[in-house]
Amino acid sequence: MSKVTLEEVFTHPITQKYLKRSGVAHAVAVAEFAYIFAKRFDVNPDYATKAALLHDVGHYTWYRDGEWDYDLYRENDIHAIKGASRAHKLLIRVGEDRHAAKEIAVAVLLHTDSYLPAGELQLKPLQQVVALADEADEEAGGNHHYKTIDDQTALERIRALDRRIDGVYARDVVSGFSNS
Ligand SMILES: [Fe+2]
Repeated sequence: MSKVTLEEVFTHPITQKYLKRSGVAHAVAVAEFAYIFAKRFDVNPDYATKAALLHDVGHYTWYRDGEWDYDLYRENDIHAIKGASRAHKLLIRVGEDRHAAKEIAVAVLLHTDSYLPAGELQLKPLQQVVALADEADEEAGGNHHYKTIDDQTALERIRALDRRIDGVYARDVVSGFSNS
């Protein structure tokens, strides 16, 4: 079992503050997609779901005259960099293992290449899973950031993911014993 649950990360006031800005419903949906893709690509589901949950915590609000300004956003956005740093700080604060915190933060850093110079990045499977999960929940015009979800439903879906992640670990332990 992982030391730090998704619920602990999700309910932390810092997570809540930034997810309310970028979209709680999107973050929860991306975490669920990440769990599915993690199983498909044999990636650690604990790392994948945490990175997915936190992938957009670096967003800044690019409003001009009360409207979201996409030009300002495209020109100046560094949400993946900021998010990686915030995610790392938060994970360390809640007691995450340092290696896990680094892997998760780097997956947040690389979940989009929109701010990077053109070129081919060789993503690791964990990083690919988080990028794919984000794409899977994307809607035209950035509408995925505006989907709504009530607090209780969001928490229940996060808890359901924790139970599934725990189940995966429990099975790994059992098969580890049977193989030894
Ligand atoms: Fe996203």
